Amino acid sequence: MTPEQCVGETASVTPDLTTSAPWNALAAHHTAIRDVHLRQLFAEDPKRGESFLVEADGLVLDYSKQRVTKETLRLLLELAAAASVKERLDALWRGENINTTEGRPALHVALRGAGTDVFLVDGVDVMAGVREVLARMGAFSERVRSGEWLGFSGRRIERIVNIGIGGSDLGPAMAYQAMRTVASTVPTCRFVSNVDGADLASVLADSDPATTLFVVASKSFTTQETLANARSARTWLLDAFEGDTSAVARHFVAVSTNAPEVRAFGIDEANMFSFWDWVGGRYSVGSAIGLSVMLAIGPAQFREFLAGMRAMDHHVRGAPPERNLPILMAMLGVWYTNFFGAQSHAVLPYSHDLGRFPDYLQQLDMESNGKSVTLAGTSVTSTTGPVIWGSAGTNGQHAFFQLLHQGAWLVPADFIGFATPSHELPAPGDAGHHEMLMANFFAQTEALAFGKTAAEVALDGVAPELVSHRTFPGNRPTSTLLAPALTPFVLGQLIALYEHKVFVQGVIWGINSFDQWGVELGKVLAGQVLSELASSEEPELHHDSSTNSLIRRYRELRWS
Ligand code: F6P
Repeated sequence: MTPEQCVGETASVTPDLTTSAPWNALAAHHTAIRDVHLRQLFAEDPKRGESFLVEADGLVLDYSKQRVTKETLRLLLELAAAASVKERLDALWRGENINTTEGRPALHVALRGAGTDVFLVDGVDVMAGVREVLARMGAFSERVRSGEWLGFSGRRIERIVNIGIGGSDLGPAMAYQAMRTVASTVPTCRFVSNVDGADLASVLADSDPATTLFVVASKSFTTQETLANARSARTWLLDAFEGDTSAVARHFVAVSTNAPEVRAFGIDEANMFSFWDWVGGRYSVGSAIGLSVMLAIGPAQFREFLAGMRAMDHHVRGAPPERNLPILMAMLGVWYTNFFGAQSHAVLPYSHDLGRFPDYLQQLDMESNGKSVTLAGTSVTSTTGPVIWGSAGTNGQHAFFQLLHQGAWLVPADFIGFATPSHELPAPGDAGHHEMLMANFFAQTEALAFGKTAAEVALDGVAPELVSHRTFPGNRPTSTLLAPALTPFVLGQLIALYEHKVFVQGVIWGINSFDQWGVELGKVLAGQVLSELASSEEPELHHDSSTNSLIRRYRELRWS
């Protein structure tokens, strides 16, 4: 297939860019500037801090502390053009089957469609369905929140327990924590994902069956962990109501694409909220998968959340590449991954409430771009998605920042901060907590970029034998995302920003960002091992010698 063919209606295969002119130009450019220090770049351009800054609806991205020049950007955007990034975004929006290995579109942007938006799947507009489910979620949420929806014994619902895993947990759990300040005090939410009984047990330990509503969230409704937790939760509920199964209808609702399995589980379809196979699990927080969040924050705030995503959707499609946050962030990632050989990327929210964002992004990014086969089915010729990691600041500073500052790895990082705290707490006789938090936020990127030279360290009177230990090389690249406050709208913007960044990178690498076949083998093997672990007879084992002997040892420890 020629590059021209890839731009068309059925665009699906990106040409191998690693042999393209822009890629070669970037490689040569990298050789020329890889040792240039950020100190030098800032000295040469006193306005760098203003010119390497872009904004989308109040969300600011400062990428001046990235190891790039105007020429780097020009070449990176040339590469994006060669990959037909804009055309691939168009194809996504048109509802084409861009998830080629599963034969379906990836149309999460329709979830936040509004007004006269039309999103077609197989020629049919999906917006009526999207609106209908949102309206049902809204009506249900209002009933629960107002106390109109009662539990089986006539008591009001005070706790929501979301049972799901992966995209059916990470998005809602992250968003619930992030929107804590706009959430009602009743009902509160808890999230259970792990099949380790400790997870469910710890939530049930302080839950009251009479006032608890379970939201069983699973796109497929076949996920082993979720179904095991849901069954155990149902047993716990029925124990409290003397086995009366009519209690289930008042205490269980489902979110899924799979109505037959929901019915088979025993949840009435009237209590099911649907979504569609064109919504990937890790892209589903704006769908009915967000029901627990809506129950906590109410439909109006949930609409604000969707509006933030939509604003970023408009931005990614409308803003020119040089002012386009997702495209710039994607291409900066490509610069470090493919040209500097960076293996990981840190995301560091300076907001306790956004503390689960790195976990959420791990699935979004690593399940999407952790691939090494192209859309054409051949091996990739470059590295692809990096390891994503991070945690909330300032905690990370007292844990892993040592490596960021002085370690031997290059770890590009995104710092995310807010001008207004979600919890104002003045510290007596001192600056407020938020100023302390944000002082660290700004100081860290400054320290990472500029470091401290041996001469500067020596000038502080440091003993000569300690000078090298106390020197900071600097030149550690970071982006800063600064927003007015962590509102539902801003959270929506951030989520869509990273969704589109991941998509653009997938386009550059020529991979399908929307499947996840890599999770399958382990699931299949676990099914086999499960029967061997639980067997009352000594099972015949046919694994490798390591797995066989570990299973035997486990059985001995567990059952003898
Ligand atoms: O195993 C990976 C995965 O399929 C994710 O992609 C998905 O988000 C998660 O499992 C949960 O799947 P489901 O929502 O179908 O239970």
